Amino acid sequence: MGSVLGTRMSSAGENLGALDLRSDTVTRPTAEMRRAMYEAEVGDDRYGEDPTVRELQELYASIVGKEAALFVPSGTMANQIALRTWTSPGDVVIAGKNQHVLQYERSGSAVNSSVQIHWVSDERGVLNPSEVEREMTLLEYLGHSLAVVAVENTHMPSGGRPWELKELKDLRAVTGDTPLHMDGARLFNASVATGVDPSEYGRYVDSVMSCVSKGLAAPVGSLLAGTADFIASARDQRQILGGQMRQAGIIASAGIVALRSMRERLVEDHRRAGLLADAVVEVFGESCIDRASLRTNIVVFRHETPDALIAEMASHGVLIGSIAPNVVRMVTHNDVSDDDIERAIKVLHRCAE
Ligand SMILES: Cc1ncc(COP(=O)(O)O)c(C=O)c1O
Repeated sequence: MGSVLGTRMSSAGENLGALDLRSDTVTRPTAEMRRAMYEAEVGDDRYGEDPTVRELQELYASIVGKEAALFVPSGTMANQIALRTWTSPGDVVIAGKNQHVLQYERSGSAVNSSVQIHWVSDERGVLNPSEVEREMTLLEYLGHSLAVVAVENTHMPSGGRPWELKELKDLRAVTGDTPLHMDGARLFNASVATGVDPSEYGRYVDSVMSCVSKGLAAPVGSLLAGTADFIASARDQRQILGGQMRQAGIIASAGIVALRSMRERLVEDHRRAGLLADAVVEVFGESCIDRASLRTNIVVFRHETPDALIAEMASHGVLIGSIAPNVVRMVTHNDVSDDDIERAIKVLHRCAE
């Protein structure tokens, strides 16, 4: 059977090919980003002399209400730098069982920081303060050194579930002086869904990272923010991990466009993901999906034969993915239009026939 898709073009006039719902990382830079990259003023960031990198870092720090920020090549590196900055070898980190830092970074925390992660449950995206408190009491009893607690907002594996501010405040009430790190790879999706300003989230955590390369459509990069002292140490850790860049203003310029003009449109991605989630309920039934938790741009659902479904969707020109055994994922983003969603829904129905 042939594809039901016509030619799909990006805002920069590029042929996008198949409809790609595997991730929001597949977005192409917009025409405005490409212009900004072409015109970017640059310098050697090793010497702190790239004005565009500096502008991006200051912009992000002000958005999340922190003193300083650091531009790094990826979200994974931002998390790894945060761990290296907060911990010493042998320390313990508390994180949710399904968080990126634990499941999707190839044991990087053990390799890069020599720390042990004690996990707590996070099926619905958030950490339960009572469970974290019990874990902290146990760690103290056993003589462990707890260095940092990490949360993920939005929480990707639960279908992009955003944290409510109260949930974060309640967690902070039990973690006290222990630093709290937020993997906010999709922090702006969370803000758009909950109405909580990024700086409000920032008030209750000690470090926060966000990716400009996901729903905000920049080609490369993430930012890590915290106090000026924290970021000075993080800069050293970035060098140790080989993430120091030179004329990085070329890519930072797209990050500035991402932060300035791509945040508000995330509401469109959320609306479209909602349509996909409703179609999954229609096609596969309610029991395979936690429809109420899906409030941002990620749709996850259980399926008995994900590989077969993924292959069949691909044969119709719609790429989807999986994030765990029997868990299928579809993600909306800047290169997905209303027409694309309509077509994807048609293909979903066709695959269930
Ligand atoms: C929640 C979360 N954190 C961190 C990352 C890592 O980002 P990167 O792919 O830029 O390393 C991802 C990537 O998908 C993510 O979903």
